[in-house]
Amino acid sequence: MAPTQETPQYGVKDASFQAAGQEPGVRKLVDAFYDEMEVLPEAKLIRDMHPEDLEESRDKLARFLCGWLGGPKLFQAKYGKIRIPLAHRHLAIGLSERDAWLLCMEHALQKQDFNPLFKKYLLEQLFVPAEGSRNQE
Ligand code: HEM
Repeated sequence: MAPTQETPQYGVKDASFQAAGQEPGVRKLVDAFYDEMEVLPEAKLIRDMHPEDLEESRDKLARFLCGWLGGPKLFQAKYGKIRIPLAHRHLAIGLSERDAWLLCMEHALQKQDFNPLFKKYLLEQLFVPAEGSRNQE
């Protein structure tokens, strides 16, 4: 079936980047994600791993996700090459940390004006790098 506006082929070319509202949409999602991390009690353990000032963390995740969603490789352009498991090697990430990260993302996604199918797709896809960041039981 040919892709239509009703059935976007997330994951093909930049369909996911477009569905997220391009860079402004991704930045808004990431801002909501870190806002959740500041307030959700379940996320305290991962909030405490981050620097007090989250500005660079926000910029890094937003830039990374733009490329990961099939858009421009903005992370590489500013910070250089990245591999997610290596980028987290110095952090103790187990199941609770992984699930806290995904919970922040789930809450942040609920607040976005995205297609519900895209929200579900994105959360499922993000499980992969989240699990890839895990280095403990
Ligand atoms: C599984 C749970 C995760 C935890 C607990 C976690 C935590 C962290 C922490 C504490 C940092 C350092 C922040 C800073 O120095 O500003 C970081 C960096 C980063 N994380 Fe995660 N993260 C997780 C999953 C992910 C996932 C799934 C992605 C991507 C989809 C991601 C993308 C990044 C990026 C792009 C950076 C910047 C790396 C760099 O400084 O070069 N993280 N993460």
